[in-house]
Amino acid sequence: MTNALQNRRILLVISGGIAAYKSLDLIRRLREAGAEVRCVLTQGGAQFVTPLSVAALSEDKVYSDLWSLTDEAQMGHIRLSREADLVLVAPASANMIGKMAQGLADDLASTILLATDKPVMIAPAMNVMMWTHAAVQANIKTLQQRGVKILGPASGLMACGEEGEGRMLEVADILAAVAAHFSVAGSLGGKRALVTSGPTFEPLDPVRFIGNRSSGKQGHAIAKALYAQGAETILVTGPTALPDPAGIKTIRVQTAQEMLAACEASLPVDVAVCAAAVADWRPSEMSDEKLKKGAAKAVLELAKNADILATLAKAGNRRPRLVVGFAAETNDMLKNASEKLVRKNCDWLVANDVGSGKVFNQDDNEVTLLRRDGKGQTQSDAWPRQSKDQVARALVEEIVSFFKTA
Ligand SMILES: Cc1cc2nc3c(=O)[nH]c(=O)nc-3n(C[C@H](O)[C@H](O)[C@H](O)COP(=O)(O)O)c2cc1C
Repeated sequence: MTNALQNRRILLVISGGIAAYKSLDLIRRLREAGAEVRCVLTQGGAQFVTPLSVAALSEDKVYSDLWSLTDEAQMGHIRLSREADLVLVAPASANMIGKMAQGLADDLASTILLATDKPVMIAPAMNVMMWTHAAVQANIKTLQQRGVKILGPASGLMACGEEGEGRMLEVADILAAVAAHFSVAGSLGGKRALVTSGPTFEPLDPVRFIGNRSSGKQGHAIAKALYAQGAETILVTGPTALPDPAGIKTIRVQTAQEMLAACEASLPVDVAVCAAAVADWRPSEMSDEKLKKGAAKAVLELAKNADILATLAKAGNRRPRLVVGFAAETNDMLKNASEKLVRKNCDWLVANDVGSGKVFNQDDNEVTLLRRDGKGQTQSDAWPRQSKDQVARALVEEIVSFFKTA
């Protein structure tokens, strides 16, 4: 990410939403990653963060006034809009989105947004009722059709106390989306990646299911890391509490059968990383009605699910160039994982010991990367315990090297 943002000139428009406080951190993080950040603060934005904070963090003057005698002597709004590689609006208020969609230019920010010939990204942030309002949705559609990239918003608890869609994306996610924008021509630019993540839920009746403890954190982190390296990324995820990562086509499924169908529909891809914890079995039948307690003992008949990893890795003209599986083991990890690598015909396998709560729902992971070297031998690299984000970045670095030498 650092390289992708190095020396990039980002014009950050901060409009009037409560999430503007996060923009201060965004300025800091963009600059830490090597970007030059110039800020435009709307009148609304200045109600939430002070020009002094913005100026101090960006180490530059803050632009707010369309009628500035000094700035506009050199046509400041045109200059600002052209001396940037990207215009980023974060937070993007409902008002600013409306003005952009309608082509209004009644302040410096909206005039710049009309005058710019540079890519524009916006991170909407507003109350759920505002976000879902037909007017805002129509404006968003208009902007999308014009090529404006919409980052989020995310779902969750908002500053107003209500819950739902409308929260500004987390700073890290905005940063990743901006980095991905700049690295499209980068390491994995032009490559398509498929990632599976999370558990599957296999229904027994309308209220019960067979599931597992996977949180999706590792799979989602891998999808974000691939996207950050410029890959066009498709994430097929089982039910998780995680928000859809910005910029990544995310397909939400419930069952293993749905996950397989979504993966097959996403082919062809260059690389597939199967990190989902897919149920091996599903109830043979799903009852349309909630099963009653009834007898003291119940017997459940299970049917075998198709193996998604093995299906994707099967030789054929739609086989991804690189197929990476995950093996969650509770015993004899290396032996079982090595066998699985060969049995499923995948190229690499990331093995982890999931015994005694070591992995599921944790933020860190200790994995061993197994690779087939083409001569029937398996190489294994044990990585130290690190965050799931770090595991994801390290794996994607290996994927980048693979495609460089392939
Ligand atoms: C306390 C408070 C919080 C607000 N939060 C938001 C918000 O999160 N998102 C939004 O779109 N508007 C929000 N508004 C309304 C905008 O600030 C208002 O529409 C303003 O005109 C936006 O101006 P700008 O788009 O020029 O920055 C809020 C207003 C107040 C008073």
